[in-house]
Amino acid sequence: MTLELGVLVSGSGTNLQALLDAARDGRLDARIRVVLSNRPDAFGLQRARRAGVPAVVVDHKPFSSRAAFDEAVVAELRKAGVEWVALAGFMRVLTPLFLDAFSGRILNIHPSLLPAFPGVDAQGQAFRAGVHETGCTVHFVDAGVDTGPVVLQRKVPIHSTDSEDDVRARILEQEHELFVEALSLVAAGRARLVADAHGKHVLIESGAPSPP
Ligand code: GRF
Repeated sequence: MTLELGVLVSGSGTNLQALLDAARDGRLDARIRVVLSNRPDAFGLQRARRAGVPAVVVDHKPFSSRAAFDEAVVAELRKAGVEWVALAGFMRVLTPLFLDAFSGRILNIHPSLLPAFPGVDAQGQAFRAGVHETGCTVHFVDAGVDTGPVVLQRKVPIHSTDSEDDVRARILEQEHELFVEALSLVAAGRARLVADAHGKHVLIESGAPSPP
């Protein structure tokens, strides 16, 4: 299935760039319908325009509530024909209105091995905690902050000689691959959100051929 994808960004958009490149090269079965930012100055918007993808700003500041902002964002995504949403450094917490509009079809990338270090500055949190290993996570989005069912994670070492910037850069490099990999699994129908007695989780079907 080709993912009709909307990508939401608030900043530089290097993860967005990885998705644009992968979709263009056929490594990701997705059509990026629109890139939307809550910040008019987000560099990600320029990356979208450069790739010939519509770039839309919905500035959150004039809105009186989060729900009103989300309503405007959802309207833009619908107008663009979006069915799946990728959060690529989008610094706004989604309200139930947004979650319901794209129920089970919103994915986020986060720079830690969740559930460790949720929220802002996950790389700094890990660095200051003195752990020897951190990483990145792609997960389905639910009503919590970085709490949704995990699709894929990748570990990244922290060496004793590292600066915080070294750690950030090492994680980011892995994020770019992991986001493409996770979205590819979703597009192939091999990563599915399932609900059972233990709640919601992601079922990954291995690519290995089934035994005779
Ligand atoms: C990434 O570290 C991502 O995990 C987090 O925000 C950052 C966005 O970076 N959610 P970029 O804008 O994709 O470069």
